[in-house]
Amino acid sequence: MKIPKKSLGFYNGRDGQKAFIAYKGKVYDVTELYKDGEHNSCIAGNDLTGVLEMMPHGDEVVSRYPVVGELE
Ligand code: HEM
Repeated sequence: MKIPKKSLGFYNGRDGQKAFIAYKGKVYDVTELYKDGEHNSCIAGNDLTGVLEMMPHGDEVVSRYPVVGELE
């Protein structure tokens, strides 16, 4: 599934909506991790390319979550 960049913000994990993040062109479903669309002040519905690498756990964590599409 291709997910347009401008609609990624729709998946903000709020009001029962799923929480998606994008990373290096792929879109991941992180709903189980992001409570109310947030995980350690990191907001769902964003492209984290160039950001995730700087987090305490690095970027390998994304591989634990399902890929739901590609960022268009
Ligand atoms: C820029 C955004 C992010 C920030 C600021 C951030 C920050 C943190 C911090 C401070 C922790 C350690 C405290 C805790 O265990 O809750 C943590 C843990 C964790 N984060 Fe993130 N994170 C970010 C994005 C992500 C993303 C995108 C994923 C997965 C796709 C992720 C997956 C995890 C996991 C699985 C843990 C549990 C500890 C572990 O298994 O390494 N985080 N995060």
